[in-house]
Amino acid sequence: LGLVKYFKYIIVGGGVAAGYAAREFDRQGLVPGELAIVSKEAVAPYERPALSKGYLNPKGATRLPEFHVCVGSGGERLLPGWYKEKGIQLILGTEIVKVNLGSKTLISSRGETFTYQTLIIATGSTVVRLTDLKVEGADAKNIFYLRELEDADKLTESIKTKKNGKAVIIGGGYIGLEVGPAMRINNFDVTMVYPETWCMPRLFTAVLAAFYESYYANKGIKIIKGTVAVGFNAKSNGEVKGVKLKDGRVVEADIVVVGIGARPLTALFKGQVEEEKGGIKTDGFFRTSMPGVYAVGDVATFPIKLYNEMRRVEHVDHARKSAEQSVKAIKANETGKEIEEYDYLPFFYSRSFDLSWQFYGDNVGDTVFFGDNNPLSPKPKFGSYWIKDGKVVGAFLEGGTSEENKSIAKVSRLQPPVENLDQLKKEGLSFASKI
Ligand code: FDA
Ligand code: NAD
Repeated sequence: LGLVKYFKYIIVGGGVAAGYAAREFDRQGLVPGELAIVSKEAVAPYERPALSKGYLNPKGATRLPEFHVCVGSGGERLLPGWYKEKGIQLILGTEIVKVNLGSKTLISSRGETFTYQTLIIATGSTVVRLTDLKVEGADAKNIFYLRELEDADKLTESIKTKKNGKAVIIGGGYIGLEVGPAMRINNFDVTMVYPETWCMPRLFTAVLAAFYESYYANKGIKIIKGTVAVGFNAKSNGEVKGVKLKDGRVVEADIVVVGIGARPLTALFKGQVEEEKGGIKTDGFFRTSMPGVYAVGDVATFPIKLYNEMRRVEHVDHARKSAEQSVKAIKANETGKEIEEYDYLPFFYSRSFDLSWQFYGDNVGDTVFFGDNNPLSPKPKFGSYWIKDGKVVGAFLEGGTSEENKSIAKVSRLQPPVENLDQLKKEGLSFASKI
């Protein structure tokens, strides 16, 4: 207490972006002792996407240290020893509770004070909770959320104790569509509940969603659409027993997993940096409105050059790349060099059961569906293009090879013109492959 620790660079948050930033600092040349990562989590940065996928496998589940960054993008795995060897201080299990950007100080919940020359904000997101929405009984036991390793451990523990039980998944977004299948693979009786008319409406067209819904149904997952959970029944020991739906039905549950969206963790910086669209506003170098302070990953609202628009992106590829860009910008600034502005092509993906899709670009304008989307096909392969102002601006592909995925990325980046949508439909994937 009373001790002030100084580092030239501090990263607040120890998730995906922090790990990739550390690797980039090392690549750019770092003096031991210059960099510290302060993280609420107890472990070194890891590839968060594993938590809703391999981590939940009933057999051969992925566990740390297997999935520390940067294995998720085919890079080297940074174990705690790597940070030690490089003289990077990993200050784990430490939550920053107060920030004063004016005096360049961070204060932890234990009362430690940190000061810096340059700060990278990489606090990521937290989950939206049903208790925040004042849903009755939402504090019952065995209602889970999934964001951090600790959450995944609680869920896997209950999967063991509630063996072959009933699971209700609330939310039809990324978490719902990955955890529903994971619970099914663990032999749970699974019901998914979401308010919209089809799953993942933020991205999926009706025809894309219909495939995933039928495929899941064929795997034995029950889907209840167009309603929400308005309350929970609990047993006398406090464990959840049933989910009360707005339409009056009650669905039995031993485990409930909730994935109803994320919220960027920006509260610590409120009033100290400019915000936009719910995130911390940055430029193409991830500089915030406060000199010497950068923001990356889920919390940053940054210019997407390709669309001439400010956006926030809650996906891992951007977390990695924005982190690298910010460190390059910090180093360039110190040495008086210039680097290119961030020029991001949005990239989202998901995996469940034997399925795997990728999406690149922007999902706006008209859509053209192509391919085999029979959910009973041995190897379904299909996709969609998005066309705006006579140009392809986005592409989705289920079941693509890595070459094919590269080709849809290229199409979305180059935005070739299309005169005839029927012709595009006929050509399907080969339109992208020949670009
Ligand atoms: P991230 O959330 O990774 O890290 C933030 C860190 O900051 C955490 O360690 C947190 O504890 C810490 N922190 C926050 N406040 C703090 C404070 N006050 N003091 C100290 N530390 C603090 N994306 C994708 O493209 N494909 C995918 O398949 C998936 N899958 C997926 C699964 C699951 C379960 C989740 C939760 C998320 C995904 N994502 C994803 C999204 C992706 O993981 C996400 O966009 C990145 O992790 C964002 O990286 P950040 O570093 O910005 O935040
Ligand atoms: P999401 O935004 O993807 O989906 C939220 C869904 O919750 C909506 O589609 C809707 O169906 C549902 N919903 C909203 N309000 C509701 C309510 N009151 N009751 C019931 N349902 C409601 O959010 P998520 O799935 O919770 O994911 C959280 C975060 O994790 C996001 O940042 C996401 O990008 C990230 N994530 C990404 C991946 C991936 O990219 N493959 C995988 C897992 C998680």
